[in-house]
Amino acid sequence: MKPDPRPQPQCKVVPGAPRHVAIIMDGNGRWATQRGRPRLFGHHAGARRVREIVEACPDQGVEYLTIFAFSTENWKRTQVEVAGLMSLFRRYITKETRALRDAGVRVRFIGDRERLDAKLIKLMNDLEEATSHNGLVNLTIAINYGGRDEVARATHRLAQDVASGKLDPDKVDEETLPKYLDTYVLPDPDLVIRTSGEARISNFLLWQSAYSEYEFIDTLWPDFTAEEFGRLCAAFGGRERRFGAVET
Ligand code: FPP
Repeated sequence: MKPDPRPQPQCKVVPGAPRHVAIIMDGNGRWATQRGRPRLFGHHAGARRVREIVEACPDQGVEYLTIFAFSTENWKRTQVEVAGLMSLFRRYITKETRALRDAGVRVRFIGDRERLDAKLIKLMNDLEEATSHNGLVNLTIAINYGGRDEVARATHRLAQDVASGKLDPDKVDEETLPKYLDTYVLPDPDLVIRTSGEARISNFLLWQSAYSEYEFIDTLWPDFTAEEFGRLCAAFGGRERRFGAVET
């Protein structure tokens, strides 16, 4: 599918809004178990929630939304669940490409694509291409993503550039390394939300979230609504962010 060449609408300017929100979408399995259904039923319900939250972003002034769909550790789940999730990603992309493109959403993927199957990689590349002219909302989907893995892959590429003489080792600093991360075109997340009551970051955006604000909420991901998202974005506006400095 080709990119939409028409002029795109702009994201609303909301004073104090988080420009970039990242979400650990947790709790699909428990949500399904509570209903006596298989875990994949919860993942399908979770996938339906993604659209509602993406659509809520422009009104909240959120330009960047990054969601954790599959971690480098999730391969340890049963073969049935892993295969079901991969099939869900393929279906989601096939089904949502036109709607995302027409809604002005630019989609990017982060994570190591090497372990993914060729069909899924092609769908991911095509979706990135089809939405490449958009900018109302920047949706980044993390698949086979792990923060440590990302830093290790970045360091590997950086070391190659040093070895080939392209990069001076004395120039390697806090500004240089992020250029090698999967997220190099994205601003750091202002707010990270984790659903389902767990208070940990599970290897998500380790470098990028050094100064993010966190919200750990009890809601299971399939129950998370645009309304709750709006409340969390509004609460973010009331937080004092000091980035290590002291007000004088
Ligand atoms: C964690 O819940 C969730 C995942 C590992 C998968 C996330 C995937 C989706 C929300 C759906 C697909 C997304 C897209 C973009 C199509 P869990 O299974 O660990 O839940 P539990 O802790 O209750 O077991």
